[in-house]
Amino acid sequence: MREATIGTPVRISKVISDMKLEPYLLQLEVDGLAIVPPEVHGFGLDRIDQMVEFILGKAEEMTGSPFTLENGPELKLKFPANSRGLSAFSDEEGQPSQFLIQQLGRQHRMFRDLAVNPTAVALIRQTIGSKSTRFSSHNSFVKWQGDDGYGSSLGLHADQSGLPLPWGRTALTANTNWCLTDYTLEGGALAYVPGSHRRGTRPTFPQAVKEAIPVVAPKGSLIVFHGATWHGAFPRKIPGMRISVANYYRHLMVTSQEDIQGSFPRELADDCDSPELFKELAGFSDGFPYQNPGQPIPRVESK
Ligand SMILES: [Fe+2]
Repeated sequence: MREATIGTPVRISKVISDMKLEPYLLQLEVDGLAIVPPEVHGFGLDRIDQMVEFILGKAEEMTGSPFTLENGPELKLKFPANSRGLSAFSDEEGQPSQFLIQQLGRQHRMFRDLAVNPTAVALIRQTIGSKSTRFSSHNSFVKWQGDDGYGSSLGLHADQSGLPLPWGRTALTANTNWCLTDYTLEGGALAYVPGSHRRGTRPTFPQAVKEAIPVVAPKGSLIVFHGATWHGAFPRKIPGMRISVANYYRHLMVTSQEDIQGSFPRELADDCDSPELFKELAGFSDGFPYQNPGQPIPRVESK
């Protein structure tokens, strides 16, 4: 029988204690967001550098402009006339200075390895549920200097906002930000409101902006946050780039952003650090949504 003793939680999962993740779990529980350094999550900086290279190359392929870490896009970029730009987050006008590279898990093995990083998955499973955690999407935010950012709201939102209130303690979605470059206030760091996940509701303005603080973290850090945590980003005020990978997770009863379960190439799932874990988080064996009827049908008994 386990015993309660001074200063040692009884209901801590073995995975968390074996991996010595208690300080990060505490930060995640109390603040709704935890910052894990590279030496703890163990995803090497060599692979982080490889990701930066890949993303800079992909950004050029997608936009037509070369990108450098020092200057961002080397040529002037313009978003399509029909894109909503800043008005997606506020009524203000302005040009965004970031875009997304989506479906990273299909593009290179290193992104699949990142999605099954044991530290990230352990902390995410603590918030959503060990058996019920699934992938939602794997995207990179490519951001450069721009005064407008998300506008005066800082784009503050809770990721699980699409789900009806009331929200409970269990996260319905949870997110990670892998910092591929340093996160600083002037550099356009993630903004968040500590403890906001415990309010169990969407942000209210302007109060949320007053309470928001930057998440300052060196390159290679892993940021994990609850789906009810209010977050956005500060504008990047200095030259250069902020690059991140957002691996987003969901409860299995919440729909995913990317159709990983239905259309992700099965053979790619086998090519990563933990194929069985990848397939479980991808939901390949889940009962819902079904494409064909699978329930047993009774038949007239033959004599
Ligand atoms: Fe978000």
